[in-house]
Amino acid sequence: MGKIILGNMKSRMTYDEVIEYIDEIKDKIDYSKVVLFPSNIYINEFKKLNIKLGLQNIIEDDIITGEITFSQAKSMGIDYAIVGHSERRSKLYEDNVMINEKIKNIKNMGIVLCIGETQEEKTKLETEEVLKRQIYTALKDVDDMKNIIIAYEPIWAIGTGEIPSLYELKKAISTIKKFVREIKNTNVKVLYGGSVNKENIKELNDVDLIDGFLIGGACLKVQEFLEIIDIVKGN
Ligand code: PGA
Repeated sequence: MGKIILGNMKSRMTYDEVIEYIDEIKDKIDYSKVVLFPSNIYINEFKKLNIKLGLQNIIEDDIITGEITFSQAKSMGIDYAIVGHSERRSKLYEDNVMINEKIKNIKNMGIVLCIGETQEEKTKLETEEVLKRQIYTALKDVDDMKNIIIAYEPIWAIGTGEIPSLYELKKAISTIKKFVREIKNTNVKVLYGGSVNKENIKELNDVDLIDGFLIGGACLKVQEFLEIIDIVKGN
């Protein structure tokens, strides 16, 4: 089947860096299961690459200054969007109810719903409860689950170099899969994100329960990103 690889470029890279990146990666990236999520202003440049593109955030069709709607994304040939990334939750106060509004009203687009616990919640052994709450509210009244992918991103693992133990990871991912089956009666793909890099990708890739990876920092370094893709492809 092959695991999917999503590259979350966040609000990183200047225009010159983008041009250099595209130039360096363009003939080398050949895995059909890669989706890159660049900054919106660079989307046209990234269209030169022969890969799928996604938005880092999206809204339902509405008139809101500074936002990008589902119809606009579709008109640019974009078929994926991340929703509820923890940086948006913590810095822009997006909550599960807002996230649910987006998901409910966006059809025919691959939605990557990010969930994950904070360090404090982890220490208090609340991980499972937090994940279930996030899923329950974000997916409330969402009947069509076929385009939904969940990315499990523990907040304490994002950009820190730390990753969960394989035990913790398997436990969290099975909790997510089982809970979605319980409330939606369907299977869902679950990705792992948070400090994935060329050093840890082998051990992460061996976890069958993981359906792919959401990669931040490491997707910006062409060589490292290509090495990661190779390992995942070979799976
Ligand atoms: P990271 O980011 O790989 O740099 O930890 C992942 C993410 O925030 O999606």
